[in-house]
Amino acid sequence: MTSPANPHAPDGTPYMSPAQAPRLELIDIVSTYVERGRRLTALAGLSLQVGKAEFVALVGPSGSGKSTLLDIVSGLLIEDSGTVFIDGELTAAAQRLGKSAYMQQRDLLLPWRTTVSNAALGLEASGVPRAEAEQRASAQLQRFGLNGFGGAYPAQLSGGMRQRAAFLRTILPRKDLVLLDEPFGALDALTRADLQMWLAGLWEQERPSVLLVTHDVEEAIFLADRVIVLTPRPGRVAFELTVSLLRPRMRDMIASPAFIQDRATLLHALGLVGHSST
Ligand SMILES: Nc1ncnc2c1ncn2[C@@H]1O[C@H](COP(=O)(O)OP(=O)(O)OP(=O)(O)O)[C@@H](O)[C@H]1O
Ligand SMILES: [Mg+2]
Repeated sequence: MTSPANPHAPDGTPYMSPAQAPRLELIDIVSTYVERGRRLTALAGLSLQVGKAEFVALVGPSGSGKSTLLDIVSGLLIEDSGTVFIDGELTAAAQRLGKSAYMQQRDLLLPWRTTVSNAALGLEASGVPRAEAEQRASAQLQRFGLNGFGGAYPAQLSGGMRQRAAFLRTILPRKDLVLLDEPFGALDALTRADLQMWLAGLWEQERPSVLLVTHDVEEAIFLADRVIVLTPRPGRVAFELTVSLLRPRMRDMIASPAFIQDRATLLHALGLVGHSST
């Protein structure tokens, strides 16, 4: 039975304890915007789960509500209706603030801050004093491929470096739930492939729960355990694929029959949702 105080498995069985609950569970989320007096439905009853240490990718047509969904999970936006459980606990939007690390779409670094002080922003936002936050950011520069660039300003960094600095800012506060909205969107194919490998490695080490929005089907398969396809607006779950690749992920897996099969399945699903009318 569905009860807000009693998170449940998809088959309706109540979880025995928060430890058994998924990291994130969304049930029947509805979200609307009012645009010039007209109400527009972005999400129309969307339900999904992200398990503990599970990497889920979200793909779907432009405008299907992917960023809206991450805004809701992060607590930046209040849903019209539906329920959001984090670790089995029912949460209102205000309670979700700070529970996840969120790299928003087109996440820009502040041009007047250096790499280190941009990277420290996430920690500062969670109450860590600036000097300590910058120290902790500095200690991670090498791991994020930013060695020697801690004092540089965003305009002095390459596109890949800027993305890694934004990543460092997102990851530093070490949340169990990481929300990434097209983190590699603006990059060339080589830098993108490089950062995908790097993210796969980072995930292997720390195993957070990840919800990644991407338009790139190959990126979704390469990185994720499960890929969820949304319908065109108003967004709902149209299709779900459990990725058949083993872990750890290696670059040459993209030529494997399993990868090619998964890609064909997803492209087919996207073609179907892309042509349906709403
Ligand atoms: N602040 C807003 N005010 C009014 N409408 C909005 C607002 N934000 C989003 N929308 C509308 O809600 C729908 C979903 O937007 P959203 O940004 O979540 O889509 P998306 O799936 O992230 O798209 P994309 O892939 O292009 O980033 C779109 O039709 C969009 O125009
Ligand atoms: Mg978006």
